[in-house]
Amino acid sequence: VSTPSRLSYEDCKATADWLLAQIDMRPTVGIVCGSGLGGLADLLKDQVAFNYKDIPNFPQSTVHGHAGRLVFGTMKGKPCVCMQGRFHLYEGYPIQRITLPMRIFKLLGVQTVVITNAAGGLNQDFKVGDIMIIKDHINLPGFAGNNPLVGPNDERFGVRFPCMSDAYDRDLQQLAMEVGQQLGYGDFLKEGVYCVLGGPSFETIAECRMLHLLGVDAVGMSTVHEVIVARHCGMRVVALSLITNLAVMDYDSEEKANHEEVLQTGKQRAEQMERLVSSVVNRIEPN
Ligand code: 6GU
Repeated sequence: VSTPSRLSYEDCKATADWLLAQIDMRPTVGIVCGSGLGGLADLLKDQVAFNYKDIPNFPQSTVHGHAGRLVFGTMKGKPCVCMQGRFHLYEGYPIQRITLPMRIFKLLGVQTVVITNAAGGLNQDFKVGDIMIIKDHINLPGFAGNNPLVGPNDERFGVRFPCMSDAYDRDLQQLAMEVGQQLGYGDFLKEGVYCVLGGPSFETIAECRMLHLLGVDAVGMSTVHEVIVARHCGMRVVALSLITNLAVMDYDSEEKANHEEVLQTGKQRAEQMERLVSSVVNRIEPN
């Protein structure tokens, strides 16, 4: 990828203004669709969609199961912008490019971001198909300096040292739990800690055991960088993991993590995930 790793505030503004010039609506909610969950974007009414490749400064989505479109529209009457397909570290993009869409969201006027992902379950009480409301994260690549905010800080986005102890909005977590229970999802609605790894290889058994010891409930390859950049620029965040497979923790197991299983479970639970997200979006109050 031959583009510069970070974009200036002015470059981000240019991208946002390019988009705003072509749409009438002003989104207040941003949505990120995880692997196999791109159907969320199809729920938007009065759509205006842009392929990532046509948006100035945008990276492109290279993963099977991720469409690569930015879709504007209304969900239950609320103006939304939706990433149908996201960018991951393992695609080879610099970490600051992966998270660029969060800054574009902010400059479009978004106040609240709803993030979804597919994740492997480590919590022994979790089952395939569970939906986990993320209450906290462990940024493991961040321990080694791989944080999207590394580099010069532009105060127009946010402060040099942003707080992360309130990364996942408590009111929105509670709202998601409440809405999920009203939909009858109580049996498969969980909450927990999400840990991001660089990927693209799945975890070894020893790595899964280590993460489990550290209090990780689900593991994946996304979301955390987006959350950090979204919080840095002051957007509220709620994030949901679909548990698409259970991480292998046992040397006797014949199970093997694979992307097809991830997409398959996504398909089976997609409708419920979509209903949960749209019901949460419906009840998000303006800041
Ligand atoms: Cl088991 N691991 C990781 N790193 N990402 C995943 C996953 C597992 N399942 C879905 N995404």
